[in-house]
Amino acid sequence: MGKIRKRFEDQVIAVANAIANFPKDRNLLVASHIDADGITSAGIISTVLSDLHVPFHLTFFKQILTGDVKSVVSKGYDSVLLMDFGTSHIEFLDRIAEEGLEVYIIDHHQPTLEYEPGRLLILNPYFHGLDGSREISTSGLAYLIAKKMGGYEHLLPIAIAGAIGDRQHEGGFHGLNRKLLKYAVDSGLVRVINEVNLFGGPKHPLLFALERTVDPYIPGITSDQSACFEFLTNIGIEPMKQGAWVTLRDLDEQKKRILVSELVKRIASESGKASAAKKLIGEIYYWNFEDDSSPIKDLRDFSTILNACGRMGYGGFGVALCMGYRGWYLAQALKVYQEYRQNISSAIKNILSNFKERVYVHNGLAFISGEDIIQDTMIGTITSILLGLKEFEQVEIAIGFSKVNDNYLKVSGRAKANTGLNLGKVMSEISVNLEGEGGGHRLAAGCTIPVKYKDKFIKELSARLSP
Ligand code: C5P
Repeated sequence: MGKIRKRFEDQVIAVANAIANFPKDRNLLVASHIDADGITSAGIISTVLSDLHVPFHLTFFKQILTGDVKSVVSKGYDSVLLMDFGTSHIEFLDRIAEEGLEVYIIDHHQPTLEYEPGRLLILNPYFHGLDGSREISTSGLAYLIAKKMGGYEHLLPIAIAGAIGDRQHEGGFHGLNRKLLKYAVDSGLVRVINEVNLFGGPKHPLLFALERTVDPYIPGITSDQSACFEFLTNIGIEPMKQGAWVTLRDLDEQKKRILVSELVKRIASESGKASAAKKLIGEIYYWNFEDDSSPIKDLRDFSTILNACGRMGYGGFGVALCMGYRGWYLAQALKVYQEYRQNISSAIKNILSNFKERVYVHNGLAFISGEDIIQDTMIGTITSILLGLKEFEQVEIAIGFSKVNDNYLKVSGRAKANTGLNLGKVMSEISVNLEGEGGGHRLAAGCTIPVKYKDKFIKELSARLSP
């Protein structure tokens, strides 16, 4: 084991020991992020803490702002555990830790400053030469901690779903993620197959699979059942045969090829076809211990449903699923997912049908004005989807705007893989100069800025990207 890897391992052990020996008379607040990575991390740590009979409160945050961090530390708890955020506030949190609050951070976001913490305990791959945006997510870190305590291998599919939520599977898992996936496959927890990536997997009725597929988003299909029916019959696929719903598995190779090529046409223009096809066919990760008919059998669907729960304000349903609860919790999560799909679909339709008014494209950059129609918790997801559509073929970086309140805007940035730009760093630097704050990863980042600085933000970002 290399020196770096050894230091990383030591830090995993240090956090695992702290949790394993957590005194039961201290009160603990666990605060996590509302996306799939944050929810899975919370699910894994909640399972461990419950088994240890450690009482704790769990809360979720949608942004990762100084105000949120201050609110976490001012609630009067003895100890706080921040998951999937905290790194960008490490200096402030370390000061608070010096004053007596016990602070733990498990996070994979890139640090914005070089700072060696004195008092708080942090596990972040970036501090050990590992790439937190590709090699491991917070859920993977949470799993490594649980694993050190022994007996938590069954939580591995949940960790993988968290990494998928942060898109670390795209182009194939790397580094520690790859090792975790290999272990999950070797131990029979997960099966990997190459298949058409529609909701519910190959045994799900095709009509509903199309309607429910959000990732990839299929314009004119996602969330519109009658359009799905028409689409299938137009391409010669009967949605129902002899009283039974037709599934992907029922299609012969030729029909499958037609289906994929027609879907690709919907998603991408001629030149974007290769990447659309890549999104539609790829590695699918099956959770072996879920029933074949379960809507969360495919870990990509599980991740999307968790993300929907978080974004729509129901992170608790997601945590319940991660902790093994099904029945009512799963039914509720699916209801939330349905509403989430409808929200996405109507926002995308609105943007595309008012493209000129809502989207400003210049030099490969697109600025999307969603202030009055898209919630601040949804702008990131919608910006990601838009960047993949044929209307955004010439766009390398998409920046979405939504409203936090009358004074602040939430900005979400998404970049295609080849720009060479570190969006997280750029958004952090620009927003700080505009009385805002932000951060994130190289290809996905966010910030909050005062409404009055929107034009300045656009100008500064454009200037950074000009050749
Ligand atoms: O909110 P959004 O989905 O656009 O965020 C993209 C990435 O940027 C996430 O990893 C999020 O944690 C990060 N981010 C951040 N600081 C913010 C907003 C987002 O670090 N103020």
